[in-house]
Amino acid sequence: MIDLLIKNATIGNNSPLVDIACHDGRIMEVSPSLEAEAMQTIDAKGYMVTPPFVDSHFHMDATLSMGLPRLNQSGTLLEGIRIWGELKPDLTPEAIKARALKLLRWSVAKGNLAIRTHVDTTDPTLMGVDVLLEVRDEMKDLVDIQLVAFPQDGLLRSENGVSLMCRALDKGVDVVGGIPHFERTMEDGRKSVAMLCELAAARGLMVDMHCDESDDPHSRHIETLTFETQRLGLQGRVTGSHLTSMHSMDNYYVSKLLPLMAEANMNCVCNPLVNMNLQGRHDTYPKRRGLMRVPELMDHGINVSLGHDDIMDPWYPMGTHDMLEVAHMGAHALHMTGVNQQNLLFDAVTVNASQTLGLKGYGLEAGCNADMVILQATSRMEALRLHPTRLFVIRRGRVVSETPEVLATVNMGNGPETVDFR
Ligand code: FE2
Repeated sequence: MIDLLIKNATIGNNSPLVDIACHDGRIMEVSPSLEAEAMQTIDAKGYMVTPPFVDSHFHMDATLSMGLPRLNQSGTLLEGIRIWGELKPDLTPEAIKARALKLLRWSVAKGNLAIRTHVDTTDPTLMGVDVLLEVRDEMKDLVDIQLVAFPQDGLLRSENGVSLMCRALDKGVDVVGGIPHFERTMEDGRKSVAMLCELAAARGLMVDMHCDESDDPHSRHIETLTFETQRLGLQGRVTGSHLTSMHSMDNYYVSKLLPLMAEANMNCVCNPLVNMNLQGRHDTYPKRRGLMRVPELMDHGINVSLGHDDIMDPWYPMGTHDMLEVAHMGAHALHMTGVNQQNLLFDAVTVNASQTLGLKGYGLEAGCNADMVILQATSRMEALRLHPTRLFVIRRGRVVSETPEVLATVNMGNGPETVDFR
């Protein structure tokens, strides 16, 4: 007897219906008609099964802290950083943990079963680091959490930034982060990138830097990050997050930059919800969108994923951790509504993001982890348009979240009828 059998699911656009057999936490077989005795059988009724959503860029230490100690009135990145600084002295481990666990309930219900979260390492107590390490380990059966050591106030700009970074890594934080555009000078930014990449190389870790989150076209730390990746042999293990200045860079310069990034096998994470809100704030009209050049990066074969970045914190007042909402914003803000582009955006919140995190066993083939989501939609385009109900969220062959099918009823005068938004 197997653990779980899913019947009548579609796994791609216009693909025939399949059954999926899961046992011992893995997918055993995917084929059109499986007969097996199972502990649990789910009829997917022709709806779509996808590997879980992956959020490749998040800030779990700040999440759900909106309004503490005050609301961000200007809505800007810099006021957000100031509010976070004001909140830090009042943070408690209990409150950070309670907010993180509340958020993770939302994540699981929305089918996000892997999250890369940055955690501030410039707080001398490293309270956020300790709490999120605990949360990562306690929640590991439910969701893969990867922590990035993030020197929010600057590696060189903040007191003891370097030693705190090293202590966070010693404690078991997974990935080396950075924020070169926030250092005092361009030269310090360059120096911080080199130091952090050397640290990652020495410890065999991945790198994910907040890089060039600015509208200044001369913020070009991504060039240094790409160079250091090559110099230290870190190809495929380095991610440039945000990269918003790329939006404003000179086209000629970008035509040189993108092939270099492709050569270094860089990963990029774009955060359309948050950066559509934070960028262009110093502009009059026209106001810049301020997102990295995603279609062009993808055309160069560079792995691009999308992140939620923030949910109800000093930087962003909205969100439920729905990665399809992120992809939906991406479709508009990046001019990516073409059919194939929508496919690419779906990849950006699933398989591309899993590649950024370096997840093992991700996918819907036999042998992969039995992690998947059944959506109340029958195609990727429908999923992007509808942000559909996550009917079942499955982790290692076990249902961890369930939401009933949502069907509206309308009465146009001839009695109630069901509305199908498809
Ligand atoms: Fe971020």
